[in-house]
Amino acid sequence: MKNYRIAAIPGDGIGKEVIAAGTEVLSCLAQRDGGFEITFDHFDWGSDYYKQHGIMMPADGRSQIENHDAIYFGAVGAPDVPDHVTLWGLRLAICQPFDQYANVRPTRILPGIQGPLRNVKEGDLDWVIVRENSEGEYAGQGGRSHVGLPEEVATEVSIFTRAGVTRIMRFAFELAQSRPRKKLTVVTKSNAQRNGMVMWDEIAAEVAREYPDVEWDKMLVDAMTMRMTLKPQSIDTIVATNLHADILSDLAAALAGSLGIAPTANLNPERKFPSMFEPIHGSAFDITGQGIANPVATFWSAVMMLEHLGEQHAADRLMRAIERVTANPDLHSPDLGGKATTREVTDAVLEAIKGDN
Ligand code: NAI
Ligand code: MG
Repeated sequence: MKNYRIAAIPGDGIGKEVIAAGTEVLSCLAQRDGGFEITFDHFDWGSDYYKQHGIMMPADGRSQIENHDAIYFGAVGAPDVPDHVTLWGLRLAICQPFDQYANVRPTRILPGIQGPLRNVKEGDLDWVIVRENSEGEYAGQGGRSHVGLPEEVATEVSIFTRAGVTRIMRFAFELAQSRPRKKLTVVTKSNAQRNGMVMWDEIAAEVAREYPDVEWDKMLVDAMTMRMTLKPQSIDTIVATNLHADILSDLAAALAGSLGIAPTANLNPERKFPSMFEPIHGSAFDITGQGIANPVATFWSAVMMLEHLGEQHAADRLMRAIERVTANPDLHSPDLGGKATTREVTDAVLEAIKGDN
């Protein structure tokens, strides 16, 4: 029997609460399925670790997880540690060296959930955002000189490489091709950013020739926010840079009802390194410890992990269980306007898994 070894890294704040729920659900699912086993190795890296050791993860941290089948990640961020330290010290310290260059973010209005847009219902909004996850605006190039002086200079340089843009574009076209509508929107800002973004547009047109059955179009990122809000039905798959897609996917999550349901996969498509699955949201210190974090984003991320591992059957079963639960407003957590706790939502999903045929 297959036994998957998963590195669980809950991180900070509600990351700990939702990953605890997620590992419970995955273990139940493996039992229910019977065809595979899951072993979790837990790593206590994050801001508490940082306060003790001065680093977010041990120096050999990556080698401790590089042979795992996947990484199940919560969130990082603490009120008393600067965000760039936590993000670069843990999440990006895993994503970048493991070359998880394709960040995939499905967004859909799940059954029973009312998004903020009037007249937009389940089925009207069904997108996948592909975010370039290795370079662009978050490449980490830049620096600061004359710190604190009136002459201080800071640069944050965007890096776009032909290799990097081509591989994410191929990934996005392939994903679009695998979906029923075979539609891709390439988002840039090639009017104002006249170098990197123009190359991005050119590469899109080149790669598009390899996928003649995919219908594709281009949008400027600012106009895209309007299209997402006013004509959500006209969109299917989206590809954008690291920064643009980061922002668009928070908008997407909000339009689909809540950040608390939005999942993501950081993929190394060549499978040279493990891929990482996590909710989009952060550590949410405003609700940490209250037991009310919505675990659905973390469960949906587990669906993506199972798909990546090739356990489609179990992935489908978990998605059905999630949808069964969201369909019942009594099981909505406060971010969805309900009163259910993390425990209650988790128990309901466990029940739905056990009761699923
Ligand atoms: P956040 O995503 O933690 O929270 C934004 C808002 O959404 C808050 O009101 C929060 O209560 C709510 N929320 C988020 N997830 C929820 C869930 N599962 N259930 C119910 N409500 C939920 O973003 P924020 O507040 O800007 O950042 C908090 C910390 O998280 C910061 O340190 C930030 O740097 C970090 N962060 C980390 C991310 C990661 O690890 N991937 C991503 C985003 C932020
Ligand atoms: Mg974000």
